[in-house]
This record gives sequence, structure tokens and C-alpha cells, in this order.
Amino acid sequence: MNREDFNVLNTGVIYFDNGATTLKPIILSEGVSDYYNNYSSNAHRGDYQMSIKASSMYEESRHLVAELINAPKDSQIAFTSGTTDSINKIVFGYFKNILSFGDEVLLTKSEHASNLLPWFELADEKGLKIKYIELNDNHEVIMENVIKAITPKTKVISIAQVSNVVGDIRPIKEIVEYAHKNNILVLVDGAQSVPHLKVDVQDLDIDFLAFSAHKMCGPTGVGILYGKEELLSKINPIVFGGGMNADFSTDGTRIYKTMPDKLEAGTPNIAGVIGFGYVIKYLMNIGFDNIHDYELELKKYAVKRLKEIPFIEIYNENSKSGIITINYKDIFPQDLAIYLDKYNICTRAGNHCAKILKDEINIKNTLRISLYFYNSKEEIDKLIEVLKNPNIKEEII
Ligand code: ALA
Repeated sequence: MNREDFNVLNTGVIYFDNGATTLKPIILSEGVSDYYNNYSSNAHRGDYQMSIKASSMYEESRHLVAELINAPKDSQIAFTSGTTDSINKIVFGYFKNILSFGDEVLLTKSEHASNLLPWFELADEKGLKIKYIELNDNHEVIMENVIKAITPKTKVISIAQVSNVVGDIRPIKEIVEYAHKNNILVLVDGAQSVPHLKVDVQDLDIDFLAFSAHKMCGPTGVGILYGKEELLSKINPIVFGGGMNADFSTDGTRIYKTMPDKLEAGTPNIAGVIGFGYVIKYLMNIGFDNIHDYELELKKYAVKRLKEIPFIEIYNENSKSGIITINYKDIFPQDLAIYLDKYNICTRAGNHCAKILKDEINIKNTLRISLYFYNSKEEIDKLIEVLKNPNIKEEII
């Protein structure tokens, strides 16, 4: 779908590393260059037309993000530098203040580093206990195991809606419903879900959501932090400076602004945020249901074709996202990725920043094929042809 919107696809590259970051449509650079060439100025700080335009375009993007995830108010959206930054701001700006010694934080072993390391740090600082929801035989999160892991001490569940390695879509609505009945808050890492599915924060009733623009055709360096209004009223900034304060005095007294300004210290990535607004409109026009359905169709096709190759093991054939994680018998995944690159096929090899997943699946490294709406069956056919090469091992050595 929409392949003509991506200049780089004219080069013949086959891009299957969309879990890491996606390609960028022409509309993104048009939006960004319009800002840089025609009204490049700071936002929220200037009393002149160019700055007023920059501010209003920046705020328009915030409104579009709110629309994208159905947030009740624009002020519930803060722009950050990415999912990692958003999660750190939630963990250290909110949870640090409400959790105490012995409280339990529930995670999974298939989380990305950015949803584990901030919690490890906070656990050390406050004496929290980290616990993991057991994965099922398909390495997926199921409700039964979430319930089993919860104890009266569980205070927060922090979980990706879609795992970046297994690609399973977690039952977030049920998890949140059960968690709230037990006074547990839920932080959702939406880095791999918001780009691919319709995510409605009110329907899911999630407490906090973090995601990145660059994994959904947007610029790098722009992330989103969403939270429920009553929680955000209590979140403290962890970065201090211009734009987030209302006043301060020589004696050190200071007054910080409310949401969203209190979380946006310093000059933000104005060009990126404005460009992201263009991209949100573009994606909403394609439709997230269309994107998800198409990716699933592509994934099924890819799995069917990969099964023609007896040397390939697929770890997640049943997961309902566009992520396919494989290994080729007796070929180190990184060697396979380098081999595929010779044919202009981009994939990712390694542990994919989910470094403790190996404790569950006993496999440290894999090759990941992650799809997006501009991929095609023809590209998958090319991948299969290259993987079926009878001289593959000789070419790798
Ligand atoms: N989180 C990104 C990935 O899964 C970088 O590849």
C-alpha cells in the first residue's frame, strides 16, 4: 500500500526492519522543511507572527496525537524525545513518588530494555520487588498468567501492548480491568502497537501510554507521554529549565507550570513535532484498521512461504502482528542479516534489546522480519528466493 509515498522504495531496497524504525513518507520532509524554510522560530516564546505560527502548528500536532489515541484532552499529551524518555519520565516523575519499600512491579521477560531498566533502577533506589508474568508456550502473555502473578503487594503493571520480538498483542483491556479492580496502575509501552493498530486510551482505560513517532513514519527524537488527568496532576518533572516554570526567585522558590508544559523543559523538537502532525493525518487517512489487516495478511503469507524452507525455525507464527522472528539452522543470525543485505534486504539480527527473553525461550539471538503497510508480497517472494539459495552457506562464508 502507498509505496509511491516513500522515495527510498524507488531504490529497490526491501525494508523489513520496521520494528526498529520505519521509512519516512515524502509528506514528513515537506512538513519539516516548510517549518525550517518558512517559519523557523521558537514556539511558545515569541510575540511575532512566525513564532505564533510555530506555536500553533506545534499545538495542532498535540491535538492530532490526542485524536489519534482518543485522549480526552490535549493537555494529557506531552512531547518527549521517544518512548524511552516517556517511560523514564513516568517511572521517575510519578511512580517514584507513590511506590514504597516492598511494593511489587509486574513486568514480563519479553519487555524491551526501556521498560525494564528504569524499573530496575527505581527498584534499587526504593526497595521495590520486580516480578515477571510467566509467558505461555508460544512466549505470549495470557490473562491467566497475569492473574497468577498478581499479589496484594502488586502496585503497577508495566507492559508493552505488542512485544518487539514475539509480536504478541497483549490483552491490555482485560489486564487493565483486572488491575484496576485490585488498585493496580497500568503503564503501557505502545512503541510497537500505536503505529500498527487503533489504540484508544479511553476504551482500554490505561493509566499511562508511551510511544515514539519514528516507528510510525514520523521523525526520530519525538516521543509521546499520555496519562490520565488525575495522575498527570501529580507527576513531577525530572528535567528542569525554561518553558516549564511559571516563576522562580533568588532564594530558590519556584513555581512550575501544569501539564503539558511542566514535562517539556527547554526548546522542544519543534520541527519534528510539526512533521509528526503531517504524518498522523497521513496515517489516519490510510486507516489503522486497514494497516493492521494488511500487515496480518502479509505476515500470514510470509509465514506460509517461510515454511517452504526446512532449515527455518519460526518462533512466533501465531502472533497477530507484523513481526516474524526466525532462525536459519546453523547460520548465526547476524551473518544471515549481512547475507540478506547483499540482496538489499534489511532485517534486524540479535536480541532486539529484549535481553532477558532468552531466559524464557532459550535462544539468545534471532533474525527479525518486521513489516509495515508499504511492504508487499513481491518483497516477501524475493526474501524467500534469497533464503532458498542453495549456495547460501558458501556465500556467507
Ligand atoms: N526498539 C527497537 C527495535 O525493536 C529499536 O528494534
